[in-house]
Amino acid sequence: MRVPNHIAIILDGNGRWAKAKGMPRGYGHIKGCANLETICDDIKDLGVKYLTVYAFSTENWKRSREEVEGLMKLFRSYLKKCMKSAEKNHMRVKVIGDPSAFAPDIQEKIRQLEEFSKDYDELYFQIALNYGSRDEIVRGVRKLAQDVADGKLVPDAIDESCFENYLDTVGVPDPDLMIRTSGELRLSNFLMWQLAYTEFYFTDVPWPDFHKEELIKAIEKYNERDRRYGGVKEE
Ligand code: IPE
Ligand code: IPE
Ligand code: MG
Repeated sequence: MRVPNHIAIILDGNGRWAKAKGMPRGYGHIKGCANLETICDDIKDLGVKYLTVYAFSTENWKRSREEVEGLMKLFRSYLKKCMKSAEKNHMRVKVIGDPSAFAPDIQEKIRQLEEFSKDYDELYFQIALNYGSRDEIVRGVRKLAQDVADGKLVPDAIDESCFENYLDTVGVPDPDLMIRTSGELRLSNFLMWQLAYTEFYFTDVPWPDFHKEELIKAIEKYNERDRRYGGVKEE
């Protein structure tokens, strides 16, 4: 089985999973968060080099105060636990998105986790927190415009690879496989630039039930795909 170099996952369906069990949405997030820890280990065991997960979007602030507060509490404990996981898996962790909207202690935990794990290189794990692809592109364009205004960059030098240096994912190869759990068939503002040639896999399985067997199923499906990048495959 050919293992994708980079897998991106939209972790969806925690709320519906909990509701189906007669439990509050927050219970789904707790179980979803625990599943993320396990999947991280599985991804490492399978030999995948890059993993990116969508954990909180720029639009998710629209949820009830109770749900957002519950998620913030969960991020606090998860970011702490993630240090152990980084140590165990020799994984470098990077948060993509705009952390400035989070409480100062969460921003500090993100900084500590990134600093702590910065020399590991067996798995590169990106967590999208307060992430939106449009927001990422607009923030990038703002920085780029500032560099032009400061005379550090001339407009003629702006090409695709130059622009990528202004994205949160700078230096990370584009995902080969994007998985979205729980049945929705949309991107919801996730990595719109980076997913240009990525293979998509959608499953009805909700995130808290997405375990290693499901991951292997997705990778097997990926192996059946005929990736072309606009060319024609040689017979
Ligand atoms: C994904 O599960 C987790 C976050 C967006 C934080 P949801 O909370 O979107 O669960 P559903 O889609 O409502 O079931
Ligand atoms: C996308 O899921 C964001 C995350 C998984 C973090 P949502 O559940 O927020 O997306 P929509 O609202 O169904 O499009
Ligand atoms: Mg959802």
